[in-house]
Amino acid sequence: MTNKTSLQKSLGIGLTLGVTLLWLLGVTASGLVAQHEMNEVFDSALEETAQRILPLAVTDILNRENGARNQRAPALKDHDEYLTYLVRDRQGNLLLQSHDADPRVFGPLPQEGFSNTSTHRIYGASAVSETIYLEVAEPLAHRREAALEAGLALLMPLTFLIPVSLLGIWWIVRLSLRKVVDFQQSIESRGAGDLSPVAGDQLPREFEPIALAVNRLLERLHRALETERSFTANSAHELRTPLATALAKIQRLKTRIQSDQLKADIADIEESLRSLSVLSGKLLELAKAEGGGAISQSRHDLVPILAMIVSDFESQAPGRITLTLPESEVTSFLDPDAFAILVRNLIENAIKHGSREQPVEVSMAADGTLRVRNGGNLIPPDQLALLRNRFARSKTHATGSGLGLAIADAIATGAGMTMHLRSPATGRQDGFEAELNVACI
Ligand SMILES: Nc1ncnc2c1ncn2[C@@H]1O[C@H](COP(=O)(O)OP(=O)(O)OP(=O)(O)O)[C@@H](O)[C@H]1O
Ligand SMILES: [Mg+2]
Repeated sequence: MTNKTSLQKSLGIGLTLGVTLLWLLGVTASGLVAQHEMNEVFDSALEETAQRILPLAVTDILNRENGARNQRAPALKDHDEYLTYLVRDRQGNLLLQSHDADPRVFGPLPQEGFSNTSTHRIYGASAVSETIYLEVAEPLAHRREAALEAGLALLMPLTFLIPVSLLGIWWIVRLSLRKVVDFQQSIESRGAGDLSPVAGDQLPREFEPIALAVNRLLERLHRALETERSFTANSAHELRTPLATALAKIQRLKTRIQSDQLKADIADIEESLRSLSVLSGKLLELAKAEGGGAISQSRHDLVPILAMIVSDFESQAPGRITLTLPESEVTSFLDPDAFAILVRNLIENAIKHGSREQPVEVSMAADGTLRVRNGGNLIPPDQLALLRNRFARSKTHATGSGLGLAIADAIATGAGMTMHLRSPATGRQDGFEAELNVACI
């Protein structure tokens, strides 16, 4: 089960990764566009600054009386310079510089227009017939910082986007799969006997073929089981009359025969016919038990029915059965006929397979717990687990076909009850016990 993938998980992770990746691509693209636009604005500001300073610088230089060179423009107020500038002549001789300007940042000869060094963006403009050049430098680090801040601002929404997308997708998938989960639970919660079609009309379109396939399978299973049951029931039913006729004829023949040897042979045949007749009766019971109908429309008191069945068995095992009944009624929706078949099989087993020296204890409690208990050899757990299968028998000297517990179990399961088989019986070292609660339905 552990390596099974969850649709919810894989969709959640896959879609979130996809959204994140697309967002990152979007951020990269818009970052590049923003950087380009910012560069244009910065360049235009740089150019504008140079154009503004140039006439002032030229006037300042031309007005110098003593022709002094390399003057530093005084700072009116102490401040860090963000844009620095140099004014030079064509040969590169310094005429004026802003108070923070570092001449090493600029090239050896002045240039017009935009140029880049490893640390600065420089714009140069000339005046007075290209004899005076002004160059303004702006550190590139500032532009990088601006681009980085813009990129980070664009990335910020991802911290919200990832959890929100994971949660949103998880919620949407859960919502869309709710009908599928309902469908799965409706299949899971049905009992083994319920083969009616499952309702798939509420399912999302993609899952409809599954519902159709499940219903087709259920229908085929239902048909196959129905065919098997009706075949068993019909054959058992058809066998009854010829078996009864053959038994009657054999019994008549026995009275007419004088030879003891022949009489013994005929008794053997009679015994075989009798067990065949019992087998066909059990097959019929099994077919009925498996065909459903273990639940009746109204509640019935099962106490008198149990008392009657036990008294029927008295002649078979005089004095061996001890019966404990509750004072009050025990009512149940279990069909009285099905209850009778179930109890008969359990008591018959206890008499047949239990120790002859020990009693068969049949008890019903006021809460509906029915117990049939007998002494006898222990049955190993691995065999005990298989006894309710058809034709399964454990070590026993008694005759039988191995159908009794299968019939009892089919009735119990069909009515929604659980039959517990135990060896040793509760409160004993040995023996066998069958227990079920008939009032739970
Ligand atoms: N009360 C019991 N005590 C001891 N063993 C039992 C008891 N009930 C059932 N068994 C064991 O379980 C086996 C299956 O029982 P089941 O009633 O299905 O078949 P059966 O009694 O052998 O034959 P059938 O009931 O068809 O005549 C039996 O053969 C027997 O070995
Ligand atoms: Mg039996």
